[in-house]
Amino acid sequence: MSALPTVCIIGAGSSGIAGAKVLAEHVVPFDCFEVSDEVGGNWAFGNANGMSSAYRSLHINTSRERMEYSDFPMPKDWPDFCHHALIKQYFNDYVDHFGIRDRITFSTAVKRAARGPDGVWEVALSTGETRRYDAVVVANGHHWDPRWPEPAFPGADTFAGRQMHSHDYVDTQGFEGKKVVVLGMGNSAMDIAVEVSLVTERTLLAARRGAWIIPNYLFGKPSDQLPVNPRIPFSLRQRWVHELVKRVVGSPAAFGLPEPDHIVGQAHPTISNYILARVAHGEVVPKPNIAAFEDSSVRFADGSVEEDVDVVVYCTGYKVTFPFFDEDLISAPDNDLPLYRRVFHPEVDNVFFLSLLQPLGATMPLAEAQAHWVARFLRGEYQLPPPADVRADMERERARMFKRYVTSKRHTMQVDFDDYLFELRRELRRGGDRARRSGFALPVPARAAASVDAAAA
Ligand SMILES: Cc1cc2nc3c(=O)[nH]c(=O)nc-3n(C[C@H](O)[C@H](O)[C@H](O)COP(=O)(O)OP(=O)(O)OC[C@H]3O[C@@H](n4cnc5c(N)ncnc54)[C@H](O)[C@@H]3O)c2cc1C
Ligand SMILES: NC(=O)c1ccc[n+]([C@@H]2O[C@H](COP(=O)([O-])OP(=O)(O)OC[C@H]3O[C@@H](n4cnc5c(N)ncnc54)[C@H](OP(=O)(O)O)[C@@H]3O)[C@@H](O)[C@H]2O)c1
Repeated sequence: MSALPTVCIIGAGSSGIAGAKVLAEHVVPFDCFEVSDEVGGNWAFGNANGMSSAYRSLHINTSRERMEYSDFPMPKDWPDFCHHALIKQYFNDYVDHFGIRDRITFSTAVKRAARGPDGVWEVALSTGETRRYDAVVVANGHHWDPRWPEPAFPGADTFAGRQMHSHDYVDTQGFEGKKVVVLGMGNSAMDIAVEVSLVTERTLLAARRGAWIIPNYLFGKPSDQLPVNPRIPFSLRQRWVHELVKRVVGSPAAFGLPEPDHIVGQAHPTISNYILARVAHGEVVPKPNIAAFEDSSVRFADGSVEEDVDVVVYCTGYKVTFPFFDEDLISAPDNDLPLYRRVFHPEVDNVFFLSLLQPLGATMPLAEAQAHWVARFLRGEYQLPPPADVRADMERERARMFKRYVTSKRHTMQVDFDDYLFELRRELRRGGDRARRSGFALPVPARAAASVDAAAA
């Protein structure tokens, strides 16, 4: 076989370590750079990289069995919805078990990745060194760059209280006896509203849109482990789950929260065992969206005014950013970066993305499956469909997603866990046949090392 292309993996969070482990298994040469001094990314609470959005009390909301990699189960005696400390331990155990810790270069950021005219990537590191690679695997995460309300609410610049983003929320310290407005209806807003309400004088939960609240358990099983058959049309499964949640949990409107303008599955799931109870106890007070700030008061969209507000916590989500790429080449304005099956860039044939998606389900097994896909592509064992088919597939998938989901910057890369894996396996088989027919040609030639050798000669 010809020499395989060399790969630079950016990041050693749960996606990057899966990428490193899988490329090592497929004997694809790679370097993996991690800006932090440890693995785990978001799950390393207080991560020295300053990028983790984990708070002290964070627990996973996708169940342990959904989250584990295919060949490395979490211990069966761990809780279904573990604390972040166990999740970080799991990632550390994973890299040690598969012997890939030595393959990661820690405390080293990729500052810039620029694609030369020959297609080879010039990767500039925080150490001052520049290295050349045939391919780049992006695993830098997409839940670390806070998205503040756009545009800011009127009066935000003169509001007397504190405004913060959920990214910077650590614990309830400093919230004792305060009046707090939490904005959003995603999982950050639920966790933070519930938690701060235990110590505040008053907690208000403001939202511009309602959300169905899905409990962690249904029928005594983690709700993300309800049986799924990807062969049954999604719309039927969705209607079934919607009816289930409506009947078992009830409409959020019954608790005074906004009525959702969609059915279950048309928005990223909001999972909480506690929020409805805190609302029912009057400890979290529902409000519509913030309309404006006036001195220390917050005026809401229904005209009601809350005076003497101390803190506003914006749980308004995150931006997808790649600080190391030239924006003209690769960027995600409004979180939108169209990719073939969330992995392959339609124009740049030697860049690949891990976990640049929002699954209904956990991300780790998807990153692992994507890494196998990339490895087989780089080894010539999988061939993409013809470009026109790739384009058509992307457009079909995007149209389907945007039609299904509520319009929001949080719904630009949604996938359904089981369906995604099912389709990926099917596509791998098809692409395997195509590769065989073309004699397993390498789609990304190994040029980087050769050109370095030539320059040195
Ligand atoms: C509060 C919160 C809770 C969540 N809960 C769940 C959950 O229960 N289940 C679930 O499946 N998902 C959850 N998620 C989604 C989360 O994104 C994934 O769990 C997971 O962290 C994704 O892993 P990742 O490796 O893609 O990204 P990250 O965990 O963000 O890791 C990215 C890594 O890349 C490194 N990096 C970034 N830029 C560079 C660079 N330029 N050079 C070198 N290294 C770089 C970072 O230091 C980091 O280590 C949650 C997200 C948040 C914010
Ligand atoms: N326990 C856990 O495991 C846990 C905890 C926290 C987060 N997470 C995960 O982390 C990721 C990010 O979650 P997140 O909750 O931080 O963000 P998110 O899912 O993007 O939710 C953002 C929320 O803010 C609202 N919003 C955005 N801009 C707004 C504006 N200008 N005005 C009013 N409302 C606005 C959104 O409303 P619209 O829908 O109208 O856009 C949405 O309700 C998700 O994958 C989530 O599952 C997991």
